[in-house]
Parts: sequence; structure tokens; C-alpha cells
Amino acid sequence: MTTQTTFPLPVTLPAWQHLVALAAEEQVSLRDRLAEPERAQRLTWSSCGITLDASRQGIGTEIEHALLELAAQSDVAGQREAMFRGDPINTTEGRPVLHVALRGDAAGGPWGSDVQALVHRELDRVCRFADEVRGGIVRGHSGEAFTDVVNIGIGGSDLGPRMAADALAHLASPTLRVHYVSNPDAWALWSVLRGLDAKRTLVVVSSKTFTTQETLTNAASAQRWLTDQGVPADAISQHLVAITASPAKSAGMGYDPQRTFLFWDWVGGRYSLWSALGLPLALGIGSAAFRELLAGGRAMDEHFRHAPMAENLPVRLALHGIWNRSFLQRPTQLMVSYASRLVRFVPFVQQMDMESNGKGVHIDGHEATVETGPIVWGGLGIDGQHAYFQLVHQGRHAIPVDFIGLQTEDTPLPLAATHHAVVNLNLRAQAQAMALGRTPAETEALLLAEGADAATARAMAPHRSFPGNIPSHILWLDRLDPERLGALIALHEHKVFTQAAIWRINAFDQWGVELGKTMAKAMER
Ligand code: F6P
Repeated sequence: MTTQTTFPLPVTLPAWQHLVALAAEEQVSLRDRLAEPERAQRLTWSSCGITLDASRQGIGTEIEHALLELAAQSDVAGQREAMFRGDPINTTEGRPVLHVALRGDAAGGPWGSDVQALVHRELDRVCRFADEVRGGIVRGHSGEAFTDVVNIGIGGSDLGPRMAADALAHLASPTLRVHYVSNPDAWALWSVLRGLDAKRTLVVVSSKTFTTQETLTNAASAQRWLTDQGVPADAISQHLVAITASPAKSAGMGYDPQRTFLFWDWVGGRYSLWSALGLPLALGIGSAAFRELLAGGRAMDEHFRHAPMAENLPVRLALHGIWNRSFLQRPTQLMVSYASRLVRFVPFVQQMDMESNGKGVHIDGHEATVETGPIVWGGLGIDGQHAYFQLVHQGRHAIPVDFIGLQTEDTPLPLAATHHAVVNLNLRAQAQAMALGRTPAETEALLLAEGADAATARAMAPHRSFPGNIPSHILWLDRLDPERLGALIALHEHKVFTQAAIWRINAFDQWGVELGKTMAKAMER
């Protein structure tokens, strides 16, 4: 690997230098920015059932133009087309990156007809199998229909389908429950298996490599449980499914090729939900809803490829993130969801973002000259309000926030509309409170108006004031359905891609997870 750069490093671009200069200036407060006429209209864009409100980002038109210029000078458009074309942009592994092809329609895409045919053949197999299990056509060894599926996988072989299953829980089959086990701690598996009837249980082993120690430990243990519970050894394959990009390995371990569903080395684990790896999700919500999820991802792909940069949702999210991370030196990105069904969305994006962009070298091995991926953290916003939001509002860290909310909610509870109003009121109030803050003078005046004496008001004011100026995005989903979810996921994938394209890092390898694995193996010997 060479340390000679084959492209202009980000810091050498005129737009980068312009942004460095802009960041060194005193920043206009969000209070002043929010007072700009028509700011909300100017900094809000919608596509694919998602609206991005960026009015509370600390950017004015000069910063905005410089960021868009940075995207142009970094050739985001050219790098984007290289991905869609299937160029080997994952250079350290010599692979193309084609999760986008997994959601391509029959009309195909720039990746070509060979990839298209492969994808559609496997997608059809996955969908048929999911519907046959759900319909009781595929059954266990005793002839009884399956009632439970246990997906065993970790990282990208767990987080995506598990997150989507929660997000789309309203579509889950009442007769086929899907459980997810990732941790090799015995309790994690036992706590699921102890409630199940082996005759009616299908075990899905999801592993791209089929070498992951945690997954293989759980898989062997689940097989042992099946046989101990009376599944005859010669019928065990009726209770097992493998999902992998290494079918030779799974076949070597006795998994039936007919019950093995494939994806390929050009699908990164954290980008694999759209592939056969989505089978556990399809088992839960049905193949039609799974295809709708793919359609949502495809719609966002189209938007990403064709919308002008200035209105391009993934590009805007990426550019504002880069402003906060690389120019204002803010190390973390808080994400908070105000839809409880999106409870696992943050851990999912955390892997997608941090495993992709947590890199210390540029693509050609040159030590990184810029700050790269942020620490992504968070969870459910309403719960966070009663916990770590204290630090966000008044602590010593400057933390950009992404809020995710739903415009409409159709949970069939009598008072659902009241619940929804409470939730969204809180989301709006938090975003506004973080942006505007409250000065000591305002706090003192408020306390006096509430009847405090002058000494108390003065003494309390520093404790009850808020610096504000906390930048945020609000992402509003029209509603939470498979298509919107697909678009939301693809939006974040393309955001991560765009940031990597500007930082000139490889978002698609993950060598950082290897050293610990190697040491664990060495210690085993
Ligand atoms: O250790 C990290 C990782 O390689 C992730 O990138 C991946 O999603 C996960 O492990 C699981 O890997 P596999 O699907 O090969 O079991």
C-alpha cells in the first residue's frame, strides 16, 4: 500500500480551506439564524415520504454554498456513480459495493444484467420460502407448521432485520414469531429457546462469512438443543436454514444447499438487510411488505442519484454532519427517535456509520488529515429526555442532534391521537429549546415573574439557564411503513457514503474489528 495520494486530499481543496476560514469566524447564533425570514422553508426538503428540516443547523448561505462547493470539488457525483456502476470502490478488499443493486427493480440499473439476474433469482427464492413457511407449506419434521423462528447472527447479520422487525412490528405475523439471538452468552440463547417447542422451531443461521465465532457457538448450541428436544438427527436440516455469502463453508457444516440463501461478497454485512439476510424479516412481515421495504430503498437511491445536490437529502445530511464534525470539531452525533418502534434504529445506524467511517487513513493509506466519522449514540428521545438530555442541554459538550419523528401514527388505540400529540410536542419543544436556550437574564426575569425574591432569582439564574445553540436536524417520516423505513435506511447509507467520499476514506472495509478477533482466536489455542 502506498502513502502517495492519488487524489487531492480534502484539506487541499479550496472549498475545504474556505470552510476552515468560515469556522474560525465567530458563529452566528441559532437564535439569530432562526429569526431569518423564511429560513424554515429554505432549509426544508422532502422526498420519498421523508422531510428533512435543517433550519436549526448552524449554517448560513455562505457556509451552505461552501459545503455544496466541497461536494462538487470532492467529486461526490463521480464517486456515487462509481458505486452504482459496480467499480471496485472497496479497494482494500478489491470489491464493488452493490447493496443498491439488491433493491433494483426488474428494469435493472447501472450495475448490469448479470448482477440483476443473480439478485432477482435469490430474492424470489427468499420470498417464496418466507411465504411457504408462513403459509404452513414448509413444515418441521413432525409435519407441524412452524410457530417460531430463531435468527442467529451478529453485527450486520442481526441489527438490520432485528431493527426492521421492531419498526414494522404492526405487520408481524401473529402465528409465526421471529426471535433474534446475537450474543454467545448462554443466557441469550437459552432465554429464547426455553419457551419454544423444537418441533415447531426453525433455526436460521445468518453469517456472511460463516466463520464468526459467536454465531457458530450459538448455532452449534441450537442444533444440540433441537436434537435433545427430539428432532431426529437425520431430519434436523428441516429445522435449519443458512444465510451466507460462503455457501461452501455452510455446506461443509452440513447445511442443506436447498435451505441455504445467498448473498455475495459485494454486499457489506451492515448493508445486507436488503439481501437474503432479510429472510428473518420477510418471515415476520411477509414477502410483499419486504418487497415494499426494497422499493422504499430504491426510491431513495433514485433521489440520491438524480436530485440536485442542494436538495439532496443524503447529501445535505452528510454536509451538515461534516461541518459539525470536521470544521467545528464536534466528536459525537446524537440520534433520537420519537417513534418507539424505531427503538433499534440508532444501534443499527451506529454500526452502519461507525464501522464504515471510523477510519484513520485515507483510501490510499495516507494518514487521515481530517476528522472522520463521529461517535453515533442515542436511542428513544422521550426516554432520553428523562436521562442524558441534561448533559446535552447544560453539559460541557457541544452535541449535534438528529431527531426522527412521525407525521402520522395509526396505532389502533382509542387515545392514539393524544399519545401522538404528546410525543411530537416534546420533539418540537426539545429541538427548539436546544436551539434557543435561555439566557441568565431571561431566567432571572422569569423567576422574578414567578414570585422569587431578587437574591434567589439571581442565585438560581446560572443553574437554570441554557446556553442553547445546539444544532439539530428533524427528520419527519410521513408514517412508519415498509417503504418509508426503506427510504430512511437508504438515506443514512447514502449519508455515510457521501461523508466517506468527501473524507476520502474507505467506508466499506472494517479492519478495525479484526485485531480483537485474532487475539481471541490465539488465546483459544
Ligand atoms: O466483526 C464485525 C463483523 O465482521 C461485521 O462487519 C459483521 O456484520 C459481523 O461481524 C458478522 O459477520 P458475519 O455475518 O460474517 O457472521
